[in-house]
Amino acid sequence: MATPSILILPGDGIGPEVMAEVRKIIDWLGAKRGLSFEVSEELVGGAAYDAHGTPLTDATMAKAQEVDAVLLGAVGGPKYDDLDFSVKPERGLLRLRKEMDLFANLRPAQCFDALADFSSLKKEVVAGLDIMIVRELTSGVYFGEPRGIFTEGNERVGINTQRYTESEIARVSRSAFELARKRGNKVCSMEKANVMESGVLWREVVQKLRDEEYPDVELSHMYADAGAMQLTRWPKQFDVIVTDNLFGDLLSDLAAMLTGSLGMLPSASLGAPMANGRPKALYEPVHGSAPDIAGQGKANPIACILSFAMALRYSFDLGEEAERVEKAVEKVLADGVRTADLMGPEGGTPVSTTEMGDAIVAALDASV
Ligand code: IPM
Ligand code: MG
Repeated sequence: MATPSILILPGDGIGPEVMAEVRKIIDWLGAKRGLSFEVSEELVGGAAYDAHGTPLTDATMAKAQEVDAVLLGAVGGPKYDDLDFSVKPERGLLRLRKEMDLFANLRPAQCFDALADFSSLKKEVVAGLDIMIVRELTSGVYFGEPRGIFTEGNERVGINTQRYTESEIARVSRSAFELARKRGNKVCSMEKANVMESGVLWREVVQKLRDEEYPDVELSHMYADAGAMQLTRWPKQFDVIVTDNLFGDLLSDLAAMLTGSLGMLPSASLGAPMANGRPKALYEPVHGSAPDIAGQGKANPIACILSFAMALRYSFDLGEEAERVEKAVEKVLADGVRTADLMGPEGGTPVSTTEMGDAIVAALDASV
C-alpha cells in the first residue's frame, strides 16, 4: 500500500503553534515505530486570505480531496471580523466540510482523571466521563437555502433555513449507531420535535433506522434544550449523542467544558469511504484560534494531538498507536504537567506549548 498521505492546514491564531507539536508526534512515529506518512502543508482561513484573497484556494481544496487525511489547526481572528461573509476564514473550513461531504462529526468529551478538579461542575459529576457527540456537519441551518439578508417592505430581514433530507438524517444516525456498538451501546438523539418539522422528521428517521437495523442498540430521544440541561446535571447518563449541525455546535462546546478545558477536546469529521476504503476525513481540535493568546507559546496542544490520534484510529487503522498517544497524554497529565489553561486554583508554573509537546514525546519514548 502507498505511504499514507496527510495534508496539514495549520490555519490561524494558535493553529500553527499546536500543529507544530503534532509534527513532533508524526516524526516520532516515523523514527520509533517505522510508520511514515507523506506530509504536506497549505494555508487555510485568514492565513490563506492574506496570501491569496480567499480562505481556501481551489488548489488546496483539490489536494484535500486527494489525501488520506486532513489535519486542521484553527481558523479566524478579530482581524477578519469585518470581511465579507464569502471570504471570512470560517468559509474555508465550511467549504472543506461541505465539498468533502464530511457528514459525521465525532466530538468525544472525555474527562481525564487528573483533570476532574478543573471542571466547573462537581468532581463526582464529571470524573470518568466518556461521551461521544455525533454532530451532523454538512447540512441543516448552516447550509440551507434560502439564506441571506433581504429587504421586505421598508426593513431588512435575515433568513437562514433548517433543512434535512431523510437520507442526511439516516447516514449520520448510522454512524452514531455503529459507534455505539463499539462503546456503551446507547444512543440519545436530540432535536426540537416540539417546535420544528425538521425535528419531527429527524426523530422519525432515527427511530426507524434503529428499529430496522440496530434493534440491539438502546435509543432515546430528547429535546435539545432538555439535553443541554441533562448534560450539565448528570452527563454520565449519556453514551453517544446524535444531533444536527447547529445543536451539535452548541452541545459540543457545552460537553467540552464539562471536561475542564476546551484545550483538551479533539474531533474527527468523516465522510463516505474513498476508493482505498479509507473514509474522507478531516481532524481538528474543537477549540478555536484563540487570538488572545496566539504567538505566546501558551496554547495547549493536547486537543490537536488527540485529533491526530483520532486520525490514526479512524483513517489509518492504527488503533494501538492511537491508544499509545492517548496514554502518553494521560501520563503527562497525571505527572502534573500543565499548560496555562489547565492551571487549577492551587496555581503552579505552566509549561509552554512546546514543552507540553516534548513531554508527550518523552512519554511516548517511555512506552516502547
Ligand atoms: C466548530 C466551530 C465552527 C462551527 C465555526 C468556526 C465555523 O464553532 O467547529 O464548532 O460553527 O461549526
Ligand atoms: Mg463550535
